Amino acid sequence: MVHGYLVTANIAHGQITSIDTQAAATAPGVIAVFTHKNAPTVFKPTNNFMKSKIYEARLPLSDDQIHYAGQIIGLVVADTFERARHAAHLVKVEYATQEPIVEASKANFNEAPPMFGEQMKFEKGNFAAGDFASGMAGATAKITATYTTSTELHAPMEPHAIIAHWQDADTLTVYEPSQWVIGSQRTYAELFGLPTEKVRIVTPFIGGAFGCKAFPWSHGILCAAAARQLQLSLKVVLSRRQMTANTGHRSQTEQTISLGANADGSLIAIDHAVKSCTSPVDVFTEPCTGITPAMYAAPNLRTRQELAVMNVGVPTFMRAPGENPGLWALESAMDELAWELKIDPVELRLKNETKEHQRRGLPFSAKYFAECLRVGAEQFGWQDRPKQVRALTRDGQLIGWGMAASTFPALRSAASVTVRLLANGTAHILTSGNDMGTGAYTVVAGTAAEVLELPVEQVRVELGDSLLPNGGMAGGSQMTATLVPAVLKACTEVLKTAKATTAQEAFATLRQSGEAAFEATASSAPGEEGKQWAFQSWGAHFCEVSVDEEIARLRVNRWVSVMNIGQVMNAKTAASQIRGAVIMGIGQALMEECHFDPNIGYPVVYDLATYHFPTHADIPRIQVTFVGEPDFNFNPAGVRGVGEIGITGVSAAIANAIYHAIGKRIRNLPITPDKLL
Ligand code: MOS
Repeated sequence: MVHGYLVTANIAHGQITSIDTQAAATAPGVIAVFTHKNAPTVFKPTNNFMKSKIYEARLPLSDDQIHYAGQIIGLVVADTFERARHAAHLVKVEYATQEPIVEASKANFNEAPPMFGEQMKFEKGNFAAGDFASGMAGATAKITATYTTSTELHAPMEPHAIIAHWQDADTLTVYEPSQWVIGSQRTYAELFGLPTEKVRIVTPFIGGAFGCKAFPWSHGILCAAAARQLQLSLKVVLSRRQMTANTGHRSQTEQTISLGANADGSLIAIDHAVKSCTSPVDVFTEPCTGITPAMYAAPNLRTRQELAVMNVGVPTFMRAPGENPGLWALESAMDELAWELKIDPVELRLKNETKEHQRRGLPFSAKYFAECLRVGAEQFGWQDRPKQVRALTRDGQLIGWGMAASTFPALRSAASVTVRLLANGTAHILTSGNDMGTGAYTVVAGTAAEVLELPVEQVRVELGDSLLPNGGMAGGSQMTATLVPAVLKACTEVLKTAKATTAQEAFATLRQSGEAAFEATASSAPGEEGKQWAFQSWGAHFCEVSVDEEIARLRVNRWVSVMNIGQVMNAKTAASQIRGAVIMGIGQALMEECHFDPNIGYPVVYDLATYHFPTHADIPRIQVTFVGEPDFNFNPAGVRGVGEIGITGVSAAIANAIYHAIGKRIRNLPITPDKLL
């Protein structure tokens, strides 16, 4: 195996006028240097979402144009990682520079670059029911406010890395963290013009993904292409700095919300207008307005999304894309309205809950949002909350209590699972679906053990290999709801076959004696139920903060999350999903931000020392409770899955608690100490 190191652009906008690879090519150990002048051949995939997709629509090294700082402009291959990295720094590049746009205030909204045209529109983000203007005119209480979020970087513990291995020129094995090995298999096959079965993706474990490892990135495409040309196994590992530009971020957002309500608190008008940014080389809209028609009932409801192009890398899915920043704005605005009306914020939400999805016109199935609010309030002791700001103090610090709602749609895809009952009494469960650290191995093993009436230690689960039956995607918090129904079905079938073929008593003996084996493969897929119901999960966060005003020091002291996710398959891993998401939300609320240098266009934070997220010392005990019932309208296991919902509403709950503590409304994330002064 040989090693590749990326050469990346030092400017954010312009053109390569010369690229001198002489010194790099003759450096010790160097095997090859690829640039746009000798780029290995790849084809453009169809880029149909949910079929084959690459994150960055522009293929790597396709021309001399530079669209963002850190863009890949070359790959040096050498016998060791160190020699490849050294030689990569010997590549001399000259540019014709154009002024980059890296600040949203300077970007043009809704002016698509020629490459995209109509694709710039995000139709689902725009919706209107009733007449917002006249609804608002008739309201007794009105608030209008603008909320912003900063650019957040994907920073999973495990950096992006790939090994591409070719047997001859037509059989590719890729070892790469992938949330979706079957999609990745199709995509690499299209990129190289190969039948799908000639490509294998292997991802048994992932060290964190959160949306940035669902599809191939440019470095992966380049690695596989270079490996084919060289007929060598090639490994490429990205540095943290390279990841800031090349493996996705969550776009900054600016959201303006208007709420109009009657004196009793019932909403009559909601408007939600969103601006987010994308890259010149792909279109991604942070879909913040998706949650608006799902949360609160209002006869006059309007949502709008606008998009601007900046000279930055590709923004992408990042834990609850849309729902998370969307609820930051909406749940902050609901708190502002509650203060305006002098109504308890829990009461205001209970009063305005919608029983149907107002854009889709469908009733929600097994919705226990009100129960989340009531149970959370009770566990937290919400009834003791002082009705004034700056009313609670402890040890010389101001204390505030805040809450916010959570939601995330319940998704599910088709999955196939193979179950083998071995004669030695063990069972093997095989499917390509992934565990990206969520506990899928545990949930699949537990489910199978229960149906097969085996101790869980005797169940072996294999996941994350495209050779196995199609197990769907670990994205959109859908892996559990996708896999579990198929596991149930396959286990039931294999057990039936085994019992039918073998007399009951003989079957029990056989399990110990090791004489025969049975196998079944079963598939489960969503049916027509989505035409009758809107499937969505719900929750509420309650928290306490303390603020030392003299030094603007903020602590989150206490956290209660109550979630309604349908059937809980495993209490420990499900609660762990919520805790992890709350921690990530605390990072978003208080720490995470990426600015781009206005002169060179590069992120000014580019490693784990400069891009801050929480450590253990920043995190209080997080109490997690699940309420509700299995959602059998959704699937035979009643499971809706859990993951992304945990981060939704977290930042709003904190900002709302801060307002209660110090009487200052903060509408810009992250809430760093300067904003508290
Ligand atoms: Mo997630 S943002 O669907 O990996």
